[in-house]
Amino acid sequence: TKVLGLIANPVQQSKSPILHNKCLQSVGYNAVYLPLLADNLASFLETYSSPDFSGFSCSLPFKVDAVQCCDEHDPVAKSIGAINTIIRRPDGKLVGYNTDYIGAISAIEDGIRGLGPKDSVISPLAGRLIVVIGAGGAGKAIAYGAKEKGARVVVANRTYEKAVNLANAVGGQPLRLSDLETFKPEEGMILANATSLGMYPNVDGTPIPKKALSFYDMVFDAVYAPKVTRLLREAEENGVKVVSGVEMFIRQAMDQFEHFTGGIEAPESLMREIAAKYT
Ligand code: ATR
Repeated sequence: TKVLGLIANPVQQSKSPILHNKCLQSVGYNAVYLPLLADNLASFLETYSSPDFSGFSCSLPFKVDAVQCCDEHDPVAKSIGAINTIIRRPDGKLVGYNTDYIGAISAIEDGIRGLGPKDSVISPLAGRLIVVIGAGGAGKAIAYGAKEKGARVVVANRTYEKAVNLANAVGGQPLRLSDLETFKPEEGMILANATSLGMYPNVDGTPIPKKALSFYDMVFDAVYAPKVTRLLREAEENGVKVVSGVEMFIRQAMDQFEHFTGGIEAPESLMREIAAKYT
């Protein structure tokens, strides 16, 4: 039996153990996924260095520390500066991935595909202008991921200096949060909220005035509690297509499952069922 687990602090509240255990069981993969409470990631990984410990999720507060702890990295994850999945290879080396950005970007791509002609080779983000609100961990993940797909990136953030830094890093343009109200350089823009505004319990929060939402073809919200945030509700009221953070949550877990199992496809409908029940 392989041992997998979530390294976090606190860890007890996480739904990942129930999600991964049910899915591992459903595909007949011989592994157990444990909640692992840690104080220090590096010493934890040193202690649990047996080959049986073949994969870890890592969550708050260890996503940044995880970059140092891994021997090899997915290059985009390294640019973001955050790792949420660690795989121990048979040779003992630790390889770090960030499935949060994969989950967010694939949710956004499929949302855009739903808007028009499908093309499986070129990303539908290629050449598009995406406005990312937020410059923290989630903002970086979306900005770097979108740049990787060939999008043109605008970063808006409350603290303008952080918008400038992130925009520079991805070859994009910074914007003051207050300027979003009138920002409309072109048609066909995508909006992605990567701030905590609108997250439970502050469900009245929203990062952009309702009337400005009509400038966008699609709005994605990384917040997934509640499933429909005020931002998404107001976008829908403007007739704009929306993609919920629940999509990102499910897709990051699916990608992580495939890393853990060495490529077994995640049981998507079961994951969706469990996510619906527990988020
Ligand atoms: P995460 O890792 O989830 O992205 P974070 O690194 O704490 O979390 O980043 C939170 C983001 O939400 C930041 O962009 C933050 O803006 P600042 O850089 O100005 O702090 C943004 N944010 C949080 N509360 C906000 C508020 N009330 N108004 C505007 N932006 C807010």
